[in-house]
Amino acid sequence: MDDTTLPPELAALKERLERVPSLGPAELEEAYVDLLGRKQGRVTKYLKLLAAMPLEQKRVYGATANTLRVQLEDAFRARRHQLKADSLAAPGEDLTMPGRRRWVGAEHPVTRVVDEIVEIFREIGFAVAVGPEVETEWYNFLSLHFPADHPAMDMHDTLYLDAPPVDNEPAGRLLLRTHTSPVQIRTLLSSPPPVRVVIPGMVYRNDAFDASHSPAFSQIEGLAVDEGISFIDLRATLTHFARRFFSASTRTRFRPSFFPFTEPSAEMDVECQLCHGSGCPACKGTGWMEILGCGMVHPAVLENCNLDGERFTGWAFGMGPHRIAMLRYGIPDIRLLLEGDMRFLEQFVP
Ligand code: PHE
Repeated sequence: MDDTTLPPELAALKERLERVPSLGPAELEEAYVDLLGRKQGRVTKYLKLLAAMPLEQKRVYGATANTLRVQLEDAFRARRHQLKADSLAAPGEDLTMPGRRRWVGAEHPVTRVVDEIVEIFREIGFAVAVGPEVETEWYNFLSLHFPADHPAMDMHDTLYLDAPPVDNEPAGRLLLRTHTSPVQIRTLLSSPPPVRVVIPGMVYRNDAFDASHSPAFSQIEGLAVDEGISFIDLRATLTHFARRFFSASTRTRFRPSFFPFTEPSAEMDVECQLCHGSGCPACKGTGWMEILGCGMVHPAVLENCNLDGERFTGWAFGMGPHRIAMLRYGIPDIRLLLEGDMRFLEQFVP
């Protein structure tokens, strides 16, 4: 039914409806009583009038009147809501705008990797040990059987501190530790075998900050020293770790390597997690990813910790959680893991 055929009472109600959104607070309440008041409201009165009309009119106008009543109720409710919001808002503020989503924090992907590694080793009896990031040359290099002229001790590779060494520490300049291995020494000096620990922490090197290098990154070290420990224990434990951390069917391989503080030494590779061995750009076509260095603790290291190298043997490993996070999540640039840019990190919020 168009407006021209509406009875004048209904046409008037329709006009009033259109004006509701522009009414002020007092006008609004007045208009409400005038239109929708239970006894004297215009809508109520019209509905009463209908009762006396012929059936056909009752049917048509009754439906229109009821629709108008509902529309008026809605219009008043919306206008009241808007006026209330306006009265609470400072000038220029719009309280009907949707709220800002609350910021939700989450674990950094590298923290998650470290926690998982610690947990896997905890299950098989390893405790956590930590040590200082500022070390002496003795703990960082010499006690670990580095020869005094080893290139790693060069200023080009290691960040030395200007401060003089503290009196009660063994000789040598102060430096930022270049690996977590000095905590092997600290652990063996403070608690005799049997020792089974994992050692997470940050390490520092005089390196460029580019896609694959950073002057600061994380390592996690492992150390097991006891009577009768052999390379078989090393291999079995690290293979178990790879299967728990990556997947139950992940293949591993050990390649000979060199570290001053282990003999024999090895690198452990795991099957590339992206191509599963067939070769892809991430593994440079080899099908393998290098994830850690390891080996049997050198007897000279045990001796530096006042342990009998005939009686005790052990193995150690070291790996880089930043690198492992990059391999696991397919992150192409280590800087993304160190810059704290929320646009990147947000994708790891569970
Ligand atoms: N410290 C070695 C590095 O930083 C890693 C390592 C630790 C190797 C323990 C063998 C045993 O490269």
